[in-house]
Amino acid sequence: MFTDKYPKAKLTHNPTALEQLSNVSKLFSGPNIWIKRDDCTGLALGGNKVRQLEYYLGHALAQNSNTILTAGAIQSNHVRLCVAAAKKLGLDIEVVLAHQVSGRQSQYYQSGNPFLIELMGAKTHHYTEKKDEDSADSMLFSIAERLRKEGKTPYVIPRSDNYLPYGSLGYVDFSAELLQQCNKLSLKIDGIVLASGSGATQAGILAGIKALGFDIPVYGFSVKRDKQAQTQRVLKKSQLVADMIGFKGIVNKSDVWISDSMLTPGYGQLNDPMLDAIDLLAQQEGIFLDPTYTSRAMAGLIELIQQKHFKANQNIVFLHSGGSPALFGYPEVLDDAFYNLE
Ligand SMILES: Cc1ncc(COP(=O)(O)O)c(C=O)c1O
Repeated sequence: MFTDKYPKAKLTHNPTALEQLSNVSKLFSGPNIWIKRDDCTGLALGGNKVRQLEYYLGHALAQNSNTILTAGAIQSNHVRLCVAAAKKLGLDIEVVLAHQVSGRQSQYYQSGNPFLIELMGAKTHHYTEKKDEDSADSMLFSIAERLRKEGKTPYVIPRSDNYLPYGSLGYVDFSAELLQQCNKLSLKIDGIVLASGSGATQAGILAGIKALGFDIPVYGFSVKRDKQAQTQRVLKKSQLVADMIGFKGIVNKSDVWISDSMLTPGYGQLNDPMLDAIDLLAQQEGIFLDPTYTSRAMAGLIELIQQKHFKANQNIVFLHSGGSPALFGYPEVLDDAFYNLE
């Protein structure tokens, strides 16, 4: 495989299931919708970040690092999974939680991911000013400096896109896994739909699919940035990861499909189509979407189906990238009547 030369820490339970979303597909009489269950990657309630962390922590271990540093929002799935991965591998970990989502209720700060992060005993720093990703990275590097003075060997997993996207290598592997599953099922897929945040997942899939000689559109629904900024970010990461796996130049701007149609009211905030998507998947399929990423991507997929973007005989794979623990931080997912029960 193209990723073999990169050290990898085995963390993922895979292959994850590829199954049909029959009830939802029937409701819309559109394409056949499939779901790839990366919400079930095994570690600490799962999610896409597990595949990404295999390469970050593989890289950290290869450098004899003993302390991992990373950052994210209060309800960060990445931070939850990074803490779990470090604990599993016997490494120390310090995390920075950014108070970047405003107007939330107390559950946002105490349930779901922050609850689990605390339960795993991570050393946590908070910052409350709205800062950009470069400032978050500077904070991580200054903690790393302090740790080095204490005799530790820190490894920073940064947030900005100024570094090599080791995490994307996990989604190059995913591409091979998915195509192998499709091959076994004699299934030809016509699109992959996902949530696009740091862009690492979309970039890895774009590079992986093309390197394997396929041309399958990857529909990314942005969770944080407008279309132009997210397109730039995903393009930059895809080109870096393509280069890392020996396929320099394989991804072009025309390969990067991004929509920001589900972005309002903003990162970490729900809109009505997202709430509807959460209800729909729970009530029709017994599947829990999350309030930041996968509900946005599913709402986007439904919008594309309603706009007749796909033909009825096409097969579309929805990537369930996890995040459902964050549901517990968003009480508004249920009606007020529920909370008035005594
Ligand atoms: C549940 C979930 N889905 C999707 C994403 C987006 O993935 P990426 O950051 O690789 O774009 C994240 C990122 O944190 C996530 O936690």
